[in-house]
Amino acid sequence: MKFEYPSGATPLDPNEIDGLIPSHISTQSELNEWEANNILKAENWLFSKTSHGNFLTIDFVKLLHKKMFDETWTWAGQFRSTERNIGVQPYKIASDLNDLLEDVRCQIINQSFPFDEIAYRFHHRLVVIHPFPNGNGRHARLMTDLLLAQAGQPRFTWGRQKLESEGPIRKQYISALKKADRHDYSALAEFVRS
Ligand SMILES: Nc1ncnc2c1ncn2[C@@H]1O[C@H](COP(=O)(O)OP(=O)(O)O)[C@@H](O)[C@H]1O
Ligand SMILES: [Mg+2]
Repeated sequence: MKFEYPSGATPLDPNEIDGLIPSHISTQSELNEWEANNILKAENWLFSKTSHGNFLTIDFVKLLHKKMFDETWTWAGQFRSTERNIGVQPYKIASDLNDLLEDVRCQIINQSFPFDEIAYRFHHRLVVIHPFPNGNGRHARLMTDLLLAQAGQPRFTWGRQKLESEGPIRKQYISALKKADRHDYSALAEFVRS
């Protein structure tokens, strides 16, 4: 099958495409639907439990990705081993992620920022690390919503539309992330509650 990528998406490499589990999928829209169904199950699992204990750990970050894509990709829950146009070099993923998770734990304890700001900064740093071959945006949005929910805060609304495919809302989201790349979080702050 031929994959189509919206702007701001990271193309898969041939090895990763070989990891597609369902053999009947032959179009992008079939894949999108299959992935969405897989993710829905993960979301139900995620928000049906009142506590996930210490979820700000590498193991949990991987577990959530695994739950989101376990029926779709053989590499679900595994860090990428190849370089991308977005993301740190593969050998730095674990250490950068550890730093991020530790920073966020400290920010929560010290109330370094208003909670929303802790959450959208976390989201941005997580997609900048880009730990997985694919699904980084969807995974980082769910991790961020979990961070909010576990602190008793309402989840972000993320533009109230599917961000997976091309469209004005996705454009707004990617452009807000690009501003955040330049340390200007104003657009992202507004977007996550729009
Ligand atoms: N300039 C950028 N800075 C930070 N994050 C970005 C940037 N461009 C794209 N992203 C993030 O990368 C995601 C795309 O990565 P990908 O692994 O394909 O995720 P998904 O498959 O869930 O869309 C986008 O949804 C967005 O979260
Ligand atoms: Mg993608």
